[in-house]
Amino acid sequence: MIWPFAKRKRFSPGDLAPEGLCDAHMHLLWGLDDGPSDRAGTIEILDGLHELGYVRVAATPHRNPRMFPVPGLQEIETAIADIAGERGGIGPEIVPGGEIMFDDSFMNDLESGSLPRLGAGSTYLVEFGAHPGAIPNAFEETVFRLRTREIAIIIAHAERHHDLQKDQRRVDLLRKGGAIIQIDLMSLIGEYGRDPMKTAWRLLENGSADLVSTDLHSAAHMGEIARSLNELAEWDEAELVRLASTNPRLILAGDQWEIERNE
Ligand SMILES: [Fe+2]
Repeated sequence: MIWPFAKRKRFSPGDLAPEGLCDAHMHLLWGLDDGPSDRAGTIEILDGLHELGYVRVAATPHRNPRMFPVPGLQEIETAIADIAGERGGIGPEIVPGGEIMFDDSFMNDLESGSLPRLGAGSTYLVEFGAHPGAIPNAFEETVFRLRTREIAIIIAHAERHHDLQKDQRRVDLLRKGGAIIQIDLMSLIGEYGRDPMKTAWRLLENGSADLVSTDLHSAAHMGEIARSLNELAEWDEAELVRLASTNPRLILAGDQWEIERNE
């Protein structure tokens, strides 16, 4: 398929969002996971995002003990302070977070305070394994119980999870219980394959998506992010603003229950 992007005038997504674009999920910090391997890689991502109009981003390294050494909360904050000091206010502001692989120890780790919160509120960004059945049947109950304690769960790249791709009912149940649904921008242009792409557009069209994120691991995909934002704006400019600016901004500010949702 030839994407029509190249034929259009250069798109500035940031121009559409009066408060600037905001991102709640990306692998920005060097040396913590499969994100950039060095400091220059982190700077390159920040420069690219600045150019696209991002004003605030969360650094969300993987918290997956099977894949990477678990980064300490202090380690994340120190890396952010280090890079922010060097940039002196140029480019997006960085707030701490993490992308937590859900496993049997999730609740214990949460209660002990060892899980990274996303931004200023009681919000946790959670992912699951890729295999069918990775989202436990009792997860809806977990989400709801946490909701009663004002703790919010964001389901990272919901469109890439097998269990949600063909089961809109589960998506509805999770959202009803308080779960926030995040979609990866690059799914919109097929970067993760056909099923995530179809599911991402379905979730957008039926109003189940609550925010979109870059989920960047390096600056190499900045062009794809621009193209995805363009696709989203072509589809619905107001939705681009809600999903890539308003809602992630509210979440990072700790106002996760104030986001604009299609119920
Ligand atoms: Fe991620």
